[in-house]
Amino acid sequence: MLKTLAVAASALLLAATASVNAGTLTAQGALKADQPGPQISRYIYGQFSEHLGRGIYDGVWVGPDSKIPNVRGIRTDVVNALKDIHVPVIRWPGGCFADEYHWRDGIGPRDQRPQRKNNWWAGSPETNAFGTHEFMDFAEQVGADPYLSINVGSSNPTEMREWIEYMTSGDQDTLANERRKNGRDKPWKTPFIGFGNEAWGCGGNMTPEFYSNELRRYTGFYHRSAENPTVRIASGANAGDTNWTDVVMKNASHNIDALSLHYYTLPTGNWDKKGAATGFTAQAWTDTFANTLKMEDLITKHSAVMDQYDPKKRVGLFVDEWGTWYDVEPGTIPGHLYQNNTLRDGVLAAVNFNIFHHHADRVRLTAVAQTINVLQAMILTKDDKIALTPTYYAFKMYVPFQDATYLPLDITAPTFTMGDKTIPAFNASAAKGKDGKIYIGLANMDPNDDVALSVDLGTLKARSVSGQILTADKMDAYNDIGKAPVVAPAAFKGAKLAGGKLSITLPAKSVVVVTLD
Ligand code: AHR
Repeated sequence: MLKTLAVAASALLLAATASVNAGTLTAQGALKADQPGPQISRYIYGQFSEHLGRGIYDGVWVGPDSKIPNVRGIRTDVVNALKDIHVPVIRWPGGCFADEYHWRDGIGPRDQRPQRKNNWWAGSPETNAFGTHEFMDFAEQVGADPYLSINVGSSNPTEMREWIEYMTSGDQDTLANERRKNGRDKPWKTPFIGFGNEAWGCGGNMTPEFYSNELRRYTGFYHRSAENPTVRIASGANAGDTNWTDVVMKNASHNIDALSLHYYTLPTGNWDKKGAATGFTAQAWTDTFANTLKMEDLITKHSAVMDQYDPKKRVGLFVDEWGTWYDVEPGTIPGHLYQNNTLRDGVLAAVNFNIFHHHADRVRLTAVAQTINVLQAMILTKDDKIALTPTYYAFKMYVPFQDATYLPLDITAPTFTMGDKTIPAFNASAAKGKDGKIYIGLANMDPNDDVALSVDLGTLKARSVSGQILTADKMDAYNDIGKAPVVAPAAFKGAKLAGGKLSITLPAKSVVVVTLD
């Protein structure tokens, strides 16, 4: 590291209090509480749960006869944990899986459902035990809205129309009565519908021109109503492909309400050797953050393209797949994308939340990939045991930002350099919560140095300050399944109010959420 500060690892202290780390950087900021911005949609804290590996089977679904406590086959421990982070929306059934999925496979008596191959994900058997009724039940138990991805890649608009009618009709038509026969009288709502997934890749290898036509065709047969006012989401770009955004917006922006964006963070940026989830170096830590910070630039660029066709920002930019993607845990099935989750993932989640908040005017939904046992998971399971990951706890700490009002927080962050990477030491965002309190979320990406931050509160008169911190002694600390967590929020004592200023000592490699009352 190029900075002044190379201090032995033994000097790194666990920072539930403002600890002395390798060094301290300084930064200034100004909060503009009198210049409120847009609402930070709670849907920014959405989840993506695909039929992939042990994401659904084991992760959510254990079946009604399981010894693992469940309600109608859905794990109680998982539902309770997800309720605690106020999951607002769950995207299902894929991912790549969605564009080979036929909804009819997943309805009716479970013992009569067909078994298929999950071709995208290791060819694993797909029993279809978890289908529409089970997913809607899961979402209802969690208290989340369903976001369904429609098969556009290998299907046709009739299949889509019939699925929607099956779910949403309250009349006496044949499909509604079939739903009733299968145990659900009350029609469901479909507040979010995605038209295809990664149409440029596993969703059909389409050009943006071809996809735009498909989108116009499918949305033409999607019947919205006052009772079921769906947000129609187009399959969006892969990372930096702004041409995709340009063509879809030019040809079909009037047919949609949102366009998606997928961006995954790989430590190396190399899909053949992505990097390990644990046991990584400080360089790999820094490379990971350098790559995740690209989210800011990606959103800015795609938003600028969208502005050309939609200056009033009617069409949302939904980052409905994001998160870390590492090499799978040794000994696990490569196509199941099972990876561990460390403090690095928790800090990275907060970095992304802060970025999403900065773009709350356009980014009104995101979905982290994926909820359980896959990629940057909230929860890892083994039999009847679970671990709540550092990412889970970052989501938990940021709950007050859901539906809060964005407040500008001007900050000049110091940078740090590791090898060929120079990145800001931290990022932050602020909001006025629904409870009237002010929340400031901060993520320190520097693995070695604290940041001493002084924030001018301007017109805000705060009486008290409190907070929570997520950190650990090691960069790759993680929570073991079935054991007490070692990375979990603790009370934060490193913030003080004096003379209209808020001073925060933000420990290295930490997430802090400060509350001003
Ligand atoms: O999240 C895993 C996969 O990543 C999804 O199925 C696909 O949409 C993306 O490429």
